Amino acid sequence: MAGRLEGKVTVVTGGGSGIGRAAAALFAVEGAAVAVLDRVPEAAEETVDQIVAAGGQALAVTADIVDSDGVNAAFDWVNAQLGPVGVLYNNAGVNSSGSVLTATEEDWDRCLAVNVKGTYLCSAAAARTMVDHGGGSIVNQGSVAALVGVANFAAYCASKGAVVALTRSMAVDLAPSGIRVNVICPGTVYTPLMRPMLTVRGGGDEEKGLAMTVAKYPIGRLGTPEDIARVALFLASDEAAFMTGSVVTPDGGMTAQ
Ligand SMILES: NC(=O)c1ccc[n+]([C@@H]2O[C@H](COP(=O)([O-])OP(=O)(O)OC[C@H]3O[C@@H](n4cnc5c(N)ncnc54)[C@H](O)[C@@H]3O)[C@@H](O)[C@H]2O)c1
Repeated sequence: MAGRLEGKVTVVTGGGSGIGRAAAALFAVEGAAVAVLDRVPEAAEETVDQIVAAGGQALAVTADIVDSDGVNAAFDWVNAQLGPVGVLYNNAGVNSSGSVLTATEEDWDRCLAVNVKGTYLCSAAAARTMVDHGGGSIVNQGSVAALVGVANFAAYCASKGAVVALTRSMAVDLAPSGIRVNVICPGTVYTPLMRPMLTVRGGGDEEKGLAMTVAKYPIGRLGTPEDIARVALFLASDEAAFMTGSVVTPDGGMTAQ
C-alpha cells in the first residue's frame, strides 16, 4: 500500500529535535522525501541518519529561519536535491518565559522573530514553488498558548496567536493556488523545549512542575511528539483535502474546560 505522502517532497523545520524529529520520521515512513531543516546541523544530521537507517529518504539542511537569505538558499537547495517542495511543516519554534512585566525585550524580539517571522519566511519560500507546481500543503505550529492565557508566557502566547492569524490569512490567499494551510495547537508535549519550563513551574523541581502541568490535562498525561506528528501527517496529506484555515487542537482536553 502506498504511503500517505508517497512521492511528496516535504520540509520539516526544527526537524532536529522533539516534535519535528518525530514528524520527519513519520513522513518518511509514509513515503515522503524529507528535508530536515534545523539551525543546529548535528541535530538535523542525527534525524536524517535515523530516517536513512530505517530505509527512508532524507536530507539535512542547516538554516536559521529568521534569516531570509539563508531560508531562500535552503529551499532552493531542497528543490534542486529532492524536487519541488509540496509539503511544509513550519514546526521550528522557541519558548520565552515571563509576563508582560518581567519578559525582557530581547526575549520578546527573539520569540516573535523565530515563531512568526520564521513561519512567514519559510511559507513564502515554499509557496512560491507550490504555486508553480499545482499546489501543496503547509502545516503551521501554534500552541494552546494561542488560545488560552498561559501564565508567564506573554511573548510566546503573542507569537502563537500571530501564527494562528497568519494561518487563516495564508489559507484565504493561497487557496486559489491549490495550497492548503492549517495550524496545529498542541497542548504540552514532553520535549527538550518544555523541560526547563516544567522546572521553573515546579520552583526548581521538574517532577513537581510535571505533576502540576499534568493536572491541567483531563486526559491525565502530557502529549508525546508522536501524538502531534500524526496530526501533522493527516493535515499534510490528501486525507485533509477539504481542510484549510483550520485550527486543530491535540491537547488532551486542556482547552475544552
Ligand atoms: N513541547 C511543547 O509542549 C509544545 C507545545 C505546543 C507547541 N509546541 C511547538 O512545537 C514546536 C516544536 O517544539 P518542540 O517541543 O519539539 O521543541 P524542541 O526544542 O525539542 O525542537 C525545536 C527545534 O527547532 C530548532 N530551531 C529553533 N529555532 C530555530 C531557528 N531559528 N531556525 C531553525 N531551527 C530552529 C531547534 O534547533 C530544535 O531542533 C515549537 O514551535 C513549539 O513552540 C511545543
